[in-house]
Amino acid sequence: MIRSQETLNLLLDSISRFVRERLVPNEEIVAETDQIPAGLLQEMKDLGLFGLCLPEEYGGLGLTMEEEVLAAFELGKTSPAFRSAIGSNNGIGSTGLVVDGTAAQKEKYLPRLASGELIGSFCLTEPEAGSDAASLKTRAVRDGDHYVLNGTKRFITNAPEAGLFTVMARTGRDASGADTKGADAISAFVVEAGTAGLSLGKIDRKMGQKGAHTCDVIFENCRVPVENLIGEKEGVGFKTAMKVLDKGRLHIAAVATGAAERMLADALRYAIDRKQFDKPIIDFQLVQAMLADSQAEIYASRCMIVDAAKKRDNGERVTSEASCAKMFATEMCGRVADRAVQIFGGAGYMSEYGIERFYRDVRLFRIYEGTTQIQQIVIARELRRSAGG
Ligand code: CAA
Repeated sequence: MIRSQETLNLLLDSISRFVRERLVPNEEIVAETDQIPAGLLQEMKDLGLFGLCLPEEYGGLGLTMEEEVLAAFELGKTSPAFRSAIGSNNGIGSTGLVVDGTAAQKEKYLPRLASGELIGSFCLTEPEAGSDAASLKTRAVRDGDHYVLNGTKRFITNAPEAGLFTVMARTGRDASGADTKGADAISAFVVEAGTAGLSLGKIDRKMGQKGAHTCDVIFENCRVPVENLIGEKEGVGFKTAMKVLDKGRLHIAAVATGAAERMLADALRYAIDRKQFDKPIIDFQLVQAMLADSQAEIYASRCMIVDAAKKRDNGERVTSEASCAKMFATEMCGRVADRAVQIFGGAGYMSEYGIERFYRDVRLFRIYEGTTQIQQIVIARELRRSAGG
């Protein structure tokens, strides 16, 4: 739902201008240095980008899901590292608190996440628990007015910069004290950086998305106050994580669509400027087909994402729609990236043209926040459920 078209247009215009004038010109520097310049991060804070989706009462702009995906289309039109810097505060690093946190937990952390003073991150994945998230092994054992956490989280986005970690850990025990299996034995906690027993691994070296950092987050007898159990309720942490991902998947779908629009715009410009056989290559129908297929798929993706976002704003459960959108948009983005490199030809393989960087950067969209294959499983399960099977 759009609350005020006029206010939204002003916001989208300012994001779009910021992307064009401040972020796009800095893409190469970020790729070369693996860092977003501190001044740019400050500009992002000043624009309110860290709190776009956080509730207004906690200092955010309170964007609805429809407004959020429209903003994400714009933010997607530059290197994904910029979106990643603000992404966890607006999504996976804060949604657990927003949807299931107590009033006191929200009051304590959301304002600082909204301002960007605190960076949030989401610790679900482990060395042996990726797609099968419910098999995670990190343990949280109650000891007086604390829980003691032990375990390792892997590939955690923004962990090197984070001040607050949302951590899923196993609290379920049987009569003998052994860990119980399954999703209802998992609880979610918020853990502050600097807590004794929390440490970070070295920054991962990745295929792309330079400037966005991931690393292991290690808990060794890390004592977390009981009031940091999200919602002060054990056993619902896996559901919290799934709700976080329902929203996150729609957001990633929109970012992937924005990236596809950017790559199509770059490929279109190149096809108009580049001459072969005495004419611009856009005159050739095989090039036109690649441009046309990309445009049609981007349009389909936008429609799907906006529809799903409107449904979520209406209070509907959008588990299936979010997975459909994430699967379609990220796979589509991969196809557009491949066509864009193809249209650039030999230049597409060379770093100085930038399109190969996008090709590598967007590959992650089909993997994180649930692989395409996990989205297929979710969609098929929802279908089966709807048929009473
Ligand atoms: N909303 C609310 N509850 C949900 C839910 C949802 N979307 N999805 C599942 N649940 C509930 C189920 O109803 C069930 O509850 P009951 O037992 O009360 O019925 C419970 O959660 C367990 O669900 P499942 O039985 O479906 O669980 P499962 O173990 O079979 O697997 C899965 C579910 C879909 C495969 C899930 O494990 C999954 O999504 N895996 C992929 C994990 C993932 O996306 N990881 C990405 C990491 S985060 C990341 O990438 C961030 C980053 O760094 C950028």
